[in-house]
Amino acid sequence: MNFPKDFIWGTATSAYQIEGAYNRDGKGVSIWDTFCHTPGKINDNETGDIACDHYDKYEDDIKLMAELGISAYRFSISWTRIFPDGDDEIPNAKGLQFYDNLVNCCLKNGITPHITLFHWDLPQTLEDDGGWLSERTINAFVKYAELICEHFSDRVEYFSTINEPQIITRMGYSTGQHAPGLTLPDDTVLEILHSLAKAHAAAVRAMRKCAKRKIKIGFSSTGNLCYPSTGSKEDIEMAKKLTFSTNKEDFLFCHQIFCDAVILGKTCEYNRSWDDVEALNPPLDFLGLNIYNGHEVNSDGIVKHGIGFARTALKWPVTPEVLCWGPVFMYERYKLPIIITENGFSCNDHIFLDGKVHDADRIDYLTRYINELSKALDAGTDVIGYFHWSFTDNFEWHSGYNERFGLVYIDYATGRRIPKDSFRWYSQLIRR
Ligand code: NOJ
Repeated sequence: MNFPKDFIWGTATSAYQIEGAYNRDGKGVSIWDTFCHTPGKINDNETGDIACDHYDKYEDDIKLMAELGISAYRFSISWTRIFPDGDDEIPNAKGLQFYDNLVNCCLKNGITPHITLFHWDLPQTLEDDGGWLSERTINAFVKYAELICEHFSDRVEYFSTINEPQIITRMGYSTGQHAPGLTLPDDTVLEILHSLAKAHAAAVRAMRKCAKRKIKIGFSSTGNLCYPSTGSKEDIEMAKKLTFSTNKEDFLFCHQIFCDAVILGKTCEYNRSWDDVEALNPPLDFLGLNIYNGHEVNSDGIVKHGIGFARTALKWPVTPEVLCWGPVFMYERYKLPIIITENGFSCNDHIFLDGKVHDADRIDYLTRYINELSKALDAGTDVIGYFHWSFTDNFEWHSGYNERFGLVYIDYATGRRIPKDSFRWYSQLIRR
């Protein structure tokens, strides 16, 4: 594998999934607090109330990251720690203090912080007042983005606006499996996605103005990706075509519905009604991609995988080639430097008799995927970084704590952190 010396090797997390301390130091209520406190929404009615208690243990966690050897850490800020009601007049000093401590601790340990502004935990007050269908939420997001940028851009260079707008709309407002748990008609869900695009664009413009130095801004996209069965021209063409022509039943799970608008300033077949699309694409510095799996395609179309095909605990297929072809196709279309902002493997890890967590499956997965990623670079794709999801096991949304994605095992009963075998593997990879 050939990766450039300055390639960014990192790990990623998000606030609600790891922090806990859901009602401490002036934090307001987010839609995820409300959703998890509603019986029947989450596996075993689990919540992020305590999660990994990263709020209290962040120093130990960053030290462990330094041991791992990562050069960057992608985390999100909890909007309601900063503005408890989403757009309060004065930010909550204790909330800012927590992220000051976190950022400073990263820097002290030689780790570059990458801040995500919105990883799904919308302030409940805003949701109650119309959510993303209301101008208030869009304006609140811009104000929040501005404050974070003003406050942190002296020390932080990389900012992402929104994590996975496709999943926010699909699971939060269409299938209802995620907070706020709504099942709205497609037209309304499309309007919510439109608002996310407007909020993103306005936030980018505002941040460029108030940044204390030249910052890098992007967002993280997810959606359907395909890869060819063979290297034949026909298979490659079909894989590219099917990547960007998502089936109608699942039109929200596609990259182009958001990326075409905010990067190219164009609509695609699913969102022709966005008449302001030409104003939604202020220049970006990178495109974040969260990639876990994709569809194998040959010249006839999607190839069905048979019994026994490798799958993760979440039953997601293991398809390493998508980490080569996904970036290749996305770079061809969007021409922005790419950061893999998430990739990883969930399994039901446990502590073995020797007291260690042996996760050979994850090591095998990562070896295969990262090997494919290196092929994308060899082919001239401008991939500048890779963030493993996730640093520690954490709260996997409606699946609760069942799924374990971490390089570090969390014993939830005691809060103890146990680096898994994959932690040592990743560490060696980075050092090499
Ligand atoms: C996508 C999301 O950004 C993250 O929050 C989630 O835990 C992982 N993928 C795994 O599902």
